[in-house]
Amino acid sequence: MSQITFIAHDGAQTSVAIEAGKSLMQLAVENGVAGIDGDCGGECACGTCHVIVSAEWSDVAGTAQANEQQMLEMTPERAATSRLACCIQVTDAMDGMTVHLPEFQM
Ligand code: FES
Repeated sequence: MSQITFIAHDGAQTSVAIEAGKSLMQLAVENGVAGIDGDCGGECACGTCHVIVSAEWSDVAGTAQANEQQMLEMTPERAATSRLACCIQVTDAMDGMTVHLPEFQM
């Protein structure tokens, strides 16, 4: 089974099955990943889906567009590979990808 793994700040891991075409936020919420709230429903307007993509997967996850960058600028614990999970469209190429959750989103 193709999977993406979410790693909480305390090291707890949750792996979810890839469903290409959904957003990474949708996958997290539908699978009960703690720390991904998705309060705005995926409109890139709340910042509650912040993830830090593992460096080796950042090219696959893609880069943030201007509106996403603006939201990330207001996000605590921003890192070089920070993304909003609602702005990442899941693809089959993400099999094995890991993303980290900021401490703020425990
Ligand atoms: S769900 Fe609100 S910014 Fe991603």
